[in-house]
Amino acid sequence: MSTRPRDNRHPLEHRFSGEHPLRTLLYLYRGQRRQLAIASLCFVVKHSPVWLMPAITANIVDLVSRPGLHSPGELWVNALVLLVILAQNIPLHYAYARSLSRAARTTETQLRSALCRRLQHLSIGYYARQSAGVLQTKVLRDVEAVEQLTRVLFDGGLACLVNIVFALVITGLRQPWFLLYFLVTVPAAAAIVYTLRRPLAARNAAFREEIERMSTRVIEMTHLLPVTRAHGLESTALARVGESLERVQAAALHVDGINAVFGALSWATFNGFNMLCLIVSAWACLARWLPLGAGDVVLLTTYFGLITGSVLGLVGTLPQLTRGLESIRSIGEVLQCPDLEDNEDKAAVTAVEGEFSFENVSFVYPGSALAALHDFSLEVPPGETIALVGPSGAGKSTVLNLVIGFIRPTGGRILIDGRDMQAHDLRTYRRFLAVVPQESILFDGTVRDNVTYGLRGVPAEAVVAAVRDANAWDFVSQMPAGLDTPVGEKGARLSGGQKQRLAIARALIRNPRVLILDEATSALDTETEALIQEALARLMRGRTTFVVAHRLSTIRNARRIVVLDQGRLAEIGSHEHLVRSGGLYARLHSRQAGVEFTQ
Ligand SMILES: Nc1ncnc2c1ncn2[C@@H]1O[C@H](COP(=O)(O)OP(=O)(O)OP(=O)(O)O)[C@@H](O)[C@H]1O
Ligand SMILES: [Mg+2]
Repeated sequence: MSTRPRDNRHPLEHRFSGEHPLRTLLYLYRGQRRQLAIASLCFVVKHSPVWLMPAITANIVDLVSRPGLHSPGELWVNALVLLVILAQNIPLHYAYARSLSRAARTTETQLRSALCRRLQHLSIGYYARQSAGVLQTKVLRDVEAVEQLTRVLFDGGLACLVNIVFALVITGLRQPWFLLYFLVTVPAAAAIVYTLRRPLAARNAAFREEIERMSTRVIEMTHLLPVTRAHGLESTALARVGESLERVQAAALHVDGINAVFGALSWATFNGFNMLCLIVSAWACLARWLPLGAGDVVLLTTYFGLITGSVLGLVGTLPQLTRGLESIRSIGEVLQCPDLEDNEDKAAVTAVEGEFSFENVSFVYPGSALAALHDFSLEVPPGETIALVGPSGAGKSTVLNLVIGFIRPTGGRILIDGRDMQAHDLRTYRRFLAVVPQESILFDGTVRDNVTYGLRGVPAEAVVAAVRDANAWDFVSQMPAGLDTPVGEKGARLSGGQKQRLAIARALIRNPRVLILDEATSALDTETEALIQEALARLMRGRTTFVVAHRLSTIRNARRIVVLDQGRLAEIGSHEHLVRSGGLYARLHSRQAGVEFTQ
């Protein structure tokens, strides 16, 4: 099942570098243009009551104020128009909401899937630099912000635009001179009201920060609960949270006060300007400066309010707008990140014997001055077990990561069955590989799901056999639903030793040619330890195994032990040979002679 190269290059990823996020937004919606056009059209029509009603009101006021009304015909025409524009609002609003939602939700899903896909292709180094939390935020929150940005642009932005355009056009048609008045007063009114509202925004932001701080504290408290309770530190924990709760209260009081003052001030100013427009237009009518009727006075005042309100609405959406654009950038960082695992167009691996040759392999971590592995050469025939030992930081995990292909040599090369690893699609090679990490990684599913992760149609007998061979059957068969018992989030319902055995079962069922083992350092009781050792021995039999060994029993079972020191191969040989030669291994061994043989 070799992945086609096309699959990896999602079209979204090319559009982010150096481009304005608004253009990117347009690009993201390129497949939804039809839906968006329908949505826009429906919006303009369904929104017509807002910008037409003032004109109709003006007509009716004119009718009423005209001396000597003869026939009510005109009134009925106006009433009919009103009825029609109100009635069309319901179906068209539905059509608008549906089209917009379809466009926004489709794009949202595409973005999330593009991000998840990308995360599966980035190099392992990328995850070391980016915290899981940041990546989660990108897939969940940032995409949501983009979706909301679309809604803000339509519900808010388009409404404002339509209001302003139609209000200006109708005013222009009825009283072109009054446009001049709008030109001066609308910006002035909007600027003053905006200035009055600004402290509100700042205060609200400060308040929100306090809320966020509080939620961090509460989350921290819940995580620490077992530690807190175990040490009787309840009051300390409560004090930490309590302080934050009080700060939120203080900030809330402050913000409520500010809201009351500035909210009222801006409301009064806004309406003051409206009334000013009413007075000015009435004055212009009375003084006969402009040929204004009673209807015009109503129309101008209503449109003034509508335009000013729309301008303010537009300004009000700015924070959401910037947040949305920021999210587009943040998503772009992942989608355009060049740190991909280099697998494209490389040959697929169809079989692995398990012979490895390391030829003068060096590895320097990016940004690091010293080589984590230096001039490392080793021949490993198929089926041999190589135990890696050495002090902390010697380069043991680096060797394992090179074998998995998570990192590629910065010098020298690694041959698998005589072929350069560099020339192959590592995803296909890894199907012949099983990794048992130091910390067993289980997910929230049943025992069976965890053991057969990634494999389909595994017969029940095979699962049972693997679980048996991993010495896990004893406890699995005693679980309430056997293989179908949920293990809890991260395997929380299992003990450390049980998790390790399930991880071994997971490796066994894959029947790998190459085995990567990072032995757990955690000490287990001797009986469990013996069970795990036995299961591991079964797992390692006949497979090329690289094991970072901490346990003497594992080390004794290895035909050769590779002793690393500061990235160099210091010694190599069997346990007895190395103890006899009295080098680094002998020193490490004598220091820790016991059951455990840790670094
Ligand atoms: N992602 C990284 N970026 C930079 N340097 C790294 C990175 N990972 C490891 N190193 C460095 O490379 C060297 C070898 O690290 P490695 O993890 O291989 O040691 P190790 O033998 O597995 O140690 P331990 O027994 O403590 O797990 C160390 O000096 C370490 O600081
Ligand atoms: Mg390590």
